[in-house]
Amino acid sequence: MSSQPDPKFTPPQSFSDGGLLHAHEESVAHRTDDRGSYKLLPLALLFAFSGLIFFGGTYLNLFSGHFDPKIFDERALPHSGQVEVAKLDPVVYGKKLYESLCINCHQPTGLGVPGAFPPLAGSEWVNGPQERIIRILEHGLQGPLTVKGSNFGAVPMPAVGVGGAGWSDDKIAAVLTYVRQAFGNNSPAVTEEKVTEIRNQVGTHAPWAPADLLKIQ
Ligand code: HEC
Repeated sequence: MSSQPDPKFTPPQSFSDGGLLHAHEESVAHRTDDRGSYKLLPLALLFAFSGLIFFGGTYLNLFSGHFDPKIFDERALPHSGQVEVAKLDPVVYGKKLYESLCINCHQPTGLGVPGAFPPLAGSEWVNGPQERIIRILEHGLQGPLTVKGSNFGAVPMPAVGVGGAGWSDDKIAAVLTYVRQAFGNNSPAVTEEKVTEIRNQVGTHAPWAPADLLKIQ
């Protein structure tokens, strides 16, 4: 509000009520109200902010994958059916699975415990035909068993697949791929398809006797 006297204001000659009111009206009518007062923000800012909100909404709609935790490809279009689901490296996945179960008996080194749990490192079973170890994991194993010239059989190997813990084919393939490539072993990967094939072929089965497995090549 201006503290300067209004140049257009002419003081009344006489201070009658009417004159005073008139003078007041005159002074209010001529008051310039631009200093020390508020102003509207430029309209351009309103458009700029609206534009940003519109852009943000559109961006999230296109690239958020609807916030689905399984969608890691930010360019995947939601609901288009073209969503890429992360594939785990079987050796990395297999190591996790090994550490969740097998490690308790076969040990972190894969060397087992003499007289109780046979070694996986350098084992002729682990590095032998896939047809045998897939069956061992699916249905279990009951000795007497020989691994690297040592005798086992006091404790059975529990079934991890259909005959026991119910692990899926991809888990069994992953853990077998891991043990065939860890602890100094260097044998080809076991595929999920092979595990499925054997499970379909054999179904449920009692824990295997090593002698019966040796007949399978
Ligand atoms: C509760 C202890 C235990 C657990 C858990 C266990 N095993 Fe075994 N495993 C054994 C025993 C005991 C044998 C030997 C059985 C026998 O002598 O009849 C064996 C034998 C084996 C054999 C064949 C012999 C050899 O040493 O190569 C393989 C392969 C094997 N286990 C892999 C695994 C894998 C892979 C897992 C995890 C998914 C696993 N085992 C979990 C106790 C266990």
